[in-house]
Amino acid sequence: MLDKIKKNNFYPKGRNIDEKALEETKKLISKLPLKRDLLIEYLHLIQDSHKQIRKKYLGALSHLLKIPFAEVYEVASFYAHFDVLEDDAPSLQDITIRVCDSITCEMFGSESLIKDLRNGLDSSEVRVVRAPCMGLCDKAPACEVGHRHVTHANLQVVEKVVKERNFHPEKVIGKSLEEYISDGGYQILQKCYEGKLSIDFIINELNQSGLKGMGGAGFPSGQKWKFVRLEKSPRLMTINGDEGEPGTFKDKLYLEQNIHQFFEGMLIAAWAVEAKDVYIYMRDEYPEIRLRMFEELDKIKNNNLIDNETTIHIRRGAGAYICGEESAMIESIEGKRGLPRHKPPFVSKVGLFGKPTLNHNIETVFWVPEILKKGHAWFSKQGKRDFKGPHSFSVSGRVKKPGVKLAPAGISMNELLEEYCGGMLDGHKFTGYLPGGASGGILPANMADIPLDFGTLDKYGCFIGSGAVVVFSDKDDIKKVAINLLKFFNDESCGQCTPCRVGTEKAIKLMEKNIWNKELMNELIKTMSDASICGLGQAAGNPISSVLKYFKKDL
Ligand SMILES: Cc1cc2nc3c(=O)[nH]c(=O)nc-3n(C[C@H](O)[C@H](O)[C@H](O)COP(=O)(O)O)c2cc1C
Ligand code: SF4
Ligand code: FES
Repeated sequence: MLDKIKKNNFYPKGRNIDEKALEETKKLISKLPLKRDLLIEYLHLIQDSHKQIRKKYLGALSHLLKIPFAEVYEVASFYAHFDVLEDDAPSLQDITIRVCDSITCEMFGSESLIKDLRNGLDSSEVRVVRAPCMGLCDKAPACEVGHRHVTHANLQVVEKVVKERNFHPEKVIGKSLEEYISDGGYQILQKCYEGKLSIDFIINELNQSGLKGMGGAGFPSGQKWKFVRLEKSPRLMTINGDEGEPGTFKDKLYLEQNIHQFFEGMLIAAWAVEAKDVYIYMRDEYPEIRLRMFEELDKIKNNNLIDNETTIHIRRGAGAYICGEESAMIESIEGKRGLPRHKPPFVSKVGLFGKPTLNHNIETVFWVPEILKKGHAWFSKQGKRDFKGPHSFSVSGRVKKPGVKLAPAGISMNELLEEYCGGMLDGHKFTGYLPGGASGGILPANMADIPLDFGTLDKYGCFIGSGAVVVFSDKDDIKKVAINLLKFFNDESCGQCTPCRVGTEKAIKLMEKNIWNKELMNELIKTMSDASICGLGQAAGNPISSVLKYFKKDL
């Protein structure tokens, strides 16, 4: 009797697999090995091919990887560049335009650009969505039509791109391998491989040069290599190419100009910590650079410039700022949601796949070959007022000549403005600046003589971070600026901790009121900075406290 009931009520447990979607998925991902950590790469292949990801494909991936559907779904829905749809939902438009609405683009008209594009383009063909900074702040406002970047964008320019139907990224033409080699490139790496340079010598050179982590935290690089070497092997290396801090575009420039100097620095670091596998995490917003990376890596392999034991893996981000935080980046490389980990343990002890990991920003390793070639003093002497080394500032906003400025560490904002940026735009009076992107707080023009370097702004509640300097004028409303920054944090919060997830939302509501409730705001900021797991939530209140402290007359 029981048997009979069971038979009549039989249905397969779990989700039914769509056989057609399964076969198609197998074909799409066939060039890659079948591994759990490649989930995000597979999702990209489906998104690229279909311009959306229907749930049946998530089902196919969960079947192939033998993981729960919910696990695939939570990953796919975490990242902004994946459009997850029901199987029977209408298809999305063929063309997606992502318009940057981060701070510099907002100052240069992104809000009216969004309106113009939505009103002026055929909405059955084109989808216009908001996106955070895409590293084109010096040519604001910017947008991406498919994978094609459009700078100084307006309706007419975008219309032309849509008509031409060329949505591919523009090719990057930087220094070639031949040019790099004829300038003496890869010689330091060969000396390392041949045992002609000792690890102790290299670490000592880095320590004396004063090279610090250019990803924002400014941790001394030589020390970091030493700490990672103290951990048991096998060790791994990761490169953080996420460059998501609004206003930052220096890594992009260095990769465009001289990708081989970056590769050589990365390989020297990997050799020093004996990392046989190196993972480069590249943000999805720089497709042209990622494609060039594949080409140029093939060349260095074919020219036997890299030892046989080292494997380089390139991983593609998917539109999540939080994946720049190193432990979130590691989770993302492992094919998961980018949720920052609790620390300790630090990634140097327990990093990628649980192994000790040396993680560096692109610019940090970029300087390594040059320091070793020219000597530590060449680097350290480039500072000013006893600060060591040069510093890359990505400058945007109301200046005559925006762009990446390689200036002495310790330079002041006033000097940077006058000596490197050609002063303010005509008709604009300097009123304030972001010294370190969205996270680093806001300073007024009467505090523009402070030396800019790691640690110099802490006492003012600010920091230099990745050196993203955005300059404001009397034409900018500082309250609006702060709201834009908070909206960015609210959009990009991974949602893991309540003070950050709810606090950023609450902060925006308080800031949108005509009168700011100073007491309540300070209480909220304190809770967010004390009780958030990572730097995003801890620093999200900085723009508010800066406005409360330094821009009282604007409130
Ligand atoms: C919210 C957040 C975002 C970050 N984004 C980046 C980033 O885009 N690129 C980067 O190199 N470091 C970023 N960092 C810093 C990294 O966590 C880490 O300190 C850095 O990659 C270490 O490399 P370095 O020592 O060479 O600077 C971020 C940190 C936080 C808290
Ligand atoms: S502070 Fe924000 S971004 Fe960081 S872990 Fe918490 S919720 Fe996520
Ligand atoms: S590209 Fe828009 S703010 Fe950076």
